[in-house]
Amino acid sequence: MTDDRTPQGKGSDVHGIFEKIAGYYDRMNVVMTLGRHGKWCREVAERVAPPADGRLLDLATGTGVIALEAARRYPSAEVTGADFSEEMLRRARNKPGAEKVRWQHADAADLPFEDASFDGITEGYLLRNVSDLEGVLREQYRVLKPGGRVVILETCPPSGPAKPVVQWGVRTIVPLLGQVVARDRSSYSYLESSTLAFESPQHIARILKGIGFQAIGWRKKFFGTNVILWANKPR
Ligand SMILES: C[S@@+](CC[C@H](N)C(=O)[O-])C[C@H]1O[C@@H](n2cnc3c(N)ncnc32)[C@H](O)[C@@H]1O
Repeated sequence: MTDDRTPQGKGSDVHGIFEKIAGYYDRMNVVMTLGRHGKWCREVAERVAPPADGRLLDLATGTGVIALEAARRYPSAEVTGADFSEEMLRRARNKPGAEKVRWQHADAADLPFEDASFDGITEGYLLRNVSDLEGVLREQYRVLKPGGRVVILETCPPSGPAKPVVQWGVRTIVPLLGQVVARDRSSYSYLESSTLAFESPQHIARILKGIGFQAIGWRKKFFGTNVILWANKPR
């Protein structure tokens, strides 16, 4: 199933970066998070906890790690993995277990789904790539059923006493790994700058609250460089 609308993220440059890095995205993730990415995706899938036979949407699914985990964990749920990068979706469709997921081309800024269609939404590393953070979260609120839950995995700007060390690490290590593992320093320089410049969990939580979400919480990971946030749409 495809949808051919024009991507509206932070622009076609972001779309182009993900088309380009799709082939080595999984490998880079393992290296950059010292193997923790898979564990965080499992936690995201666990926290979304849909009802039996519920409908789940994994937005910005990329190579489908969260969607595939959700399909494995909730075999009676209907799981959709959506992304605006065809290259990423192509990788996802070729993974073991991919036949249990509906893969769909979609822009998070303008979701091709009816109001109140999903019991849960998951997303890994979408928000720092979009220009209209609130608009994208409003779209998710719209397509969630009352009582539905969103669970977000994101990078987190460093804070606290460790900030200078973490900042130095992200600035130095991420582009260097991009160069060594993927031979693509420029795409991973984008990752470094979008991580350091992105909003805090407190800021995202304020936006979620303003939209109408309730029961908002988060847990930081990996020296505060990553975070899992969750929130519910009221019943
Ligand atoms: C860093 S990858 C994350 C993939 C996956 N969620 C994970 O945790 O491994 C970010 C994904 O967001 C997608 N993306 C960025 N902006 C988007 C938008 N506006 N609509 C849909 N997908 C978008 C990219 O194509 C890319 O696949």
